[in-house]
Amino acid sequence: MRNAAIYAGLLATAFSALGHAMVNLTIVSPVDDVHFGDHLLVEWATDRTYSLEFNFVKKETWGWSVAEAFFDGRIAKAGEGNITVIVPRVEPNHEYALWLSGSEIDEPHGYANLTKWFVVEGEDMNLK
Ligand SMILES: *[C@@H]1O[C@H](CO)[C@@H](O)[C@H](O)[C@H]1NC(C)=O
Ligand SMILES: *[C@@H]1O[C@H](CO)[C@@H](O)[C@H](O)[C@H]1NC(C)=O
Ligand SMILES: *[C@@H]1O[C@H](CO)[C@@H](O)[C@H](O)[C@H]1NC(C)=O
Repeated sequence: MRNAAIYAGLLATAFSALGHAMVNLTIVSPVDDVHFGDHLLVEWATDRTYSLEFNFVKKETWGWSVAEAFFDGRIAKAGEGNITVIVPRVEPNHEYALWLSGSEIDEPHGYANLTKWFVVEGEDMNLK
């Protein structure tokens, strides 16, 4: 289903300066002290019907990688939506963000938006 070229295009779009954002994504909850299991309220707005993909992503030196995929291929009409994200058990003390991309149905176009980065703090307990 996913075409690598489209995916690369969406990635590029996430960092391009669009005059008019087609997919908006905002973390409403405070993100100054985030831990595993915390609930983050995230809101989005889109300008048309898209197939949405939503991921919890980890900052890497070369960009970012998907730490946890929440959903893919969810058809959503234009408008606003929200989701409460439960912070997954990711590698602590790294920077993470949320990424939403919308692919047009049957069209090789799409837009994506990455939220600001936040740190997922570790726990005092010695887990592993
Ligand atoms: C991402 O969403 C924010 C609003 O949450 C918006 O201000 C920004 O322009 C969007 N960026 C892109 C590249 O669409
Ligand atoms: C995204 O937000 C910008 C302002 O931050 C606004 O101009 C634009 O219309 C919004 N896009 C959608 C699809 O809601
Ligand atoms: C989240 O979206 C639902 C509809 O899917 C809406 O009823 C609810 O008011 C929204 N919550 C917030 C906090 O925006």
